[in-house]
Amino acid sequence: MVNMKIAFVGKGGSGKTTLSSLFIRHLAATAAPVVAVDADINQHLGAALGLDEAEAAGLPAMGERLGLIKDYLRGSNPRIASADTMIKTTPPGEGSRLLRVRESNPVYEACARTVELDGGAVRLMVTGPFTDADLGVACYHSKTGAVELCLNHLVDGPGEYVVVDMTAGSDSFASGMFTRFDITFLVAEPTRKGVSVYRQYKEYARDFGVALKVVGNKVQGQDDLDFLRAEVGEDLLVTVGHSNWVRAMEKGRPPRFELLEDANHRALRTLQSAADATYELRDWESYTRQMVHFHLKNAGNWGNERTGTDLAAQVDPGFVLSEGLVATA
Ligand SMILES: Nc1ncnc2c1ncn2[C@@H]1O[C@H](COP(=O)(O)OP(=O)(O)O)[C@@H](O)[C@H]1O
Ligand SMILES: [Mg+2]
Repeated sequence: MVNMKIAFVGKGGSGKTTLSSLFIRHLAATAAPVVAVDADINQHLGAALGLDEAEAAGLPAMGERLGLIKDYLRGSNPRIASADTMIKTTPPGEGSRLLRVRESNPVYEACARTVELDGGAVRLMVTGPFTDADLGVACYHSKTGAVELCLNHLVDGPGEYVVVDMTAGSDSFASGMFTRFDITFLVAEPTRKGVSVYRQYKEYARDFGVALKVVGNKVQGQDDLDFLRAEVGEDLLVTVGHSNWVRAMEKGRPPRFELLEDANHRALRTLQSAADATYELRDWESYTRQMVHFHLKNAGNWGNERTGTDLAAQVDPGFVLSEGLVATA
């Protein structure tokens, strides 16, 4: 059993939310502990996990609880004077509080809700709806910042999964969010637009050792498959066709999960195997180095000016995030 942070990215409409939700249902059916995070511009993960409109609308937004999240994670870290000087890339250090998948903590109490699925329950957290301000370059208030902070303070243990439904936008590249995952599934339809998002992602990912795999979606036959193979090559992990199970679910009549088409069950197992196989590549030191890299970059680009402090001083040079760490605060 291994532990994994997994992102689903891709163009809007490609099927990120659909495939994230199926993967989350698959994990829940194996009784694995799961934290599901909706960081997509269009917040639909709750609905895809079976919540009705009122339940989905009632989910607490992480983006509105940034102060609480920062204050909790900051703990007694002497390098972070206040929540106001904590930006989305501020890395943990001595005194910071860390998050675990299975524990209960004030961040989950404020931001997570339990969703019952066939086979088990998962925790769901959502960024909250995006506004124009979230999509610009001014990163201070960004909704995904709440997710990035949580990922940077998360020590996931054996057999635990964090699944993030995420937009492949410029914000995630500027901030370093795209480097926070053990594996990234890029959902692509067999179209030129679908694969162009893949190329762009691959380009950003190249220098950061991001494990990127393409999941072809809405693939309808040999021609679609040939197209994806030709455009994506070895990065193509698996393809998914049109699912009547998904259609029924979207009509508000979700069949039991075991009734999902066999081919799609197989595809989900392939995703899990691919995710689990990246475990041995995990390197907490380089993971910590990368968060420091992006913190210094964001500090220089806008953070120092925005907070009026030298944010480089927040970096604790001796600190390495790892599974062995016990929160000190
Ligand atoms: N494999 C599939 N079978 C049936 N419908 C699908 C499939 N993948 C996506 N869809 C449908 O396509 C639409 C867009 O998918 P969605 O997951 O919301 O995309 P994204 O999150 O990437 O914007 C939804 O209505 C969804 O139900
Ligand atoms: Mg979506």
